[in-house]
Amino acid sequence: MTSTTLPTSARPPRSAGDSLGHVIFITAAAAMGGFLFGYDSSVINGATGAIQSKYGIGSAELAQVVAIALIGCAIGAAVAGRVADRIGRIRVMQIAAVLFTVSAVGSALSFAVWDLALWRVIGGFGIGMASVIGPAYIAEVAPPAYRGRLASFQQAAIVIGIAISQLVNWGLLNAAGGNDRGHLLGLEAWQVMLGVMVVPAVVYGLLSFAIPESPRFLISVGKTDRAKAVIAEVEGESRDLDARVAEIRAGMESEHQSTFKDLLGARFGFKPIVWVGIGLAVFQQLVGINVAFYYSNTLWQSVGIDPSSSFLYSFTTSIVNIVGTVVAMILVDRIGRRALALIGSSGMAVSLAFEAWAFSAKSGETLPHGQGMVALIAAHAFVFFFAMSWGVVVWVMLGEMFPNRIRAAALGVGAAANWIANWVITATFPSLAGWNLTTTYVIYTVFAALSIPFVAKFVKETKGKRLEDMVG
Ligand code: GLC
Repeated sequence: MTSTTLPTSARPPRSAGDSLGHVIFITAAAAMGGFLFGYDSSVINGATGAIQSKYGIGSAELAQVVAIALIGCAIGAAVAGRVADRIGRIRVMQIAAVLFTVSAVGSALSFAVWDLALWRVIGGFGIGMASVIGPAYIAEVAPPAYRGRLASFQQAAIVIGIAISQLVNWGLLNAAGGNDRGHLLGLEAWQVMLGVMVVPAVVYGLLSFAIPESPRFLISVGKTDRAKAVIAEVEGESRDLDARVAEIRAGMESEHQSTFKDLLGARFGFKPIVWVGIGLAVFQQLVGINVAFYYSNTLWQSVGIDPSSSFLYSFTTSIVNIVGTVVAMILVDRIGRRALALIGSSGMAVSLAFEAWAFSAKSGETLPHGQGMVALIAAHAFVFFFAMSWGVVVWVMLGEMFPNRIRAAALGVGAAANWIANWVITATFPSLAGWNLTTTYVIYTVFAALSIPFVAKFVKETKGKRLEDMVG
């Protein structure tokens, strides 16, 4: 125990072991935002056919409805950091939960393609906010020794969200007799798919009331006693709380709220550390990971698999994604972020090169059997290498790599860059693939290869360091 009297000292002191259990609960609750991120960004895939038939739109217009949500994500991510610095991390989670709920209900009850797009953009604001607030909050409450593993809950929740949305869509489709416009609960099946998101959205909102505000935010607004109580809650009461508060405060340099201007450096626009964050965020998308998720049908069809069974095969990709994420969670605090990223980049570059080669044998719609198998194995290997490295490392590092003073704002910029890059890849894939699938994969291969010197030269290891010690 320390000499500090805690406002919550009526309860028995918490040991470091109890705190870890508690911190895992807090982390899991905050990571529900990641679950919604994964769920919402992939649920639309099950509904696209029905949306086209109901609203009589072609695939180009549909692609716009899908992609426009990503712009909402970029905006949500860009503002979340600033809002979080003003009103707190928990309030941002609550705003995101409301946005998800409104978007789910609105999308399910949409009556025209324009209002559907609007509800998707509103959901996008929520996803963008959740993509920032999860890593920021978790990094701020987690003890340094477990920070990587705890912060990877966010990515684990994202990949589980993707997998569950596929399962729910499949279940609903079957319940509606295999017809995505068949009736269920008075709505068409695809409307229920989009509406079901209300459930995790409300759970997220409720959980946010059960977790404490971030000590760093509390200190920044002068609520030091409350901050001490939270530190004791998550780090155990054996800590010298006054010293921890002093450390955090020193790290913040002043009780000044970070703004966009604080991110600017003397040269090159942003400060170098902000560019490194943007680089990590953008490379994560330029390797084409979401092509594997958003356009998996293209791959399966070229291997000769009937699109009606594509659900099963897309689901195998999601399982590989989950397994890879678990591997990353085990390794991230052991071998560190840099080593994981370098292994992942190498594995991705090799698998993407195999995919590019396999697709070069494409004549008409399908691939010869041998190349088809290579494409299939390489696609799964690619998702595995992504999941065991960049999937986790980027969201962990964006939450922890910036100095306290600019963390929230810098994370917002990095996350917004991630969403814009996601949009660029998603929006360009159909035309690139129509033109030449091999070249498309060569481009992703080149980005995977370029990420190796980028990490080697610019990315500093953050494993085990205190957030107060991040410089840049
Ligand atoms: C990361 C990416 C996201 C992608 C997901 C796949 O979270 O940021 O865009 O969909 O990984 O697992």
